[in-house]
Amino acid sequence: MDRRKFLKTSGALCGLGLVGSALLVESCKKSSTATAAQGPTVNFTLNLTQPANASLNTVGGSVASNGVIVVNDGGTYIAVAQACTHQGCSLAYNSSGNDFVCPCHGGTFDTGGNVISGPPPAPIKKYTVTKSGSVLTIAG
Ligand code: FES
Repeated sequence: MDRRKFLKTSGALCGLGLVGSALLVESCKKSSTATAAQGPTVNFTLNLTQPANASLNTVGGSVASNGVIVVNDGGTYIAVAQACTHQGCSLAYNSSGNDFVCPCHGGTFDTGGNVISGPPPAPIKKYTVTKSGSVLTIAG
């Protein structure tokens, strides 16, 4: 192979390498920006007069049901998905920090479901909570 032919061939391969690199970077970018909130689709009720839900009558109290944690946030109720977006461990509400803590690797989420710290790659889903009399409806 003469020098001119060699340079032409290697230049074409470099071009392919650049295209391949660009595709690789793009595919990595897509996976790292997949930050949609995660959680089940639900629509259920909790009756605050039932003993199993009694803790929801106290500010800072919480109940886990249907894959969702419901919290009395002081006059309002909040609800977020219970499964951590890292490896699926069950989150617990931490009333002193007003956040959700994962017992497996220390991930934490705020009351909006956003990741505060730790390895979780995506937020947890937040649900709407409506109160009618003594019944909460959690949906989303
Ligand atoms: S499973 Fe929650 S931080 Fe790893």
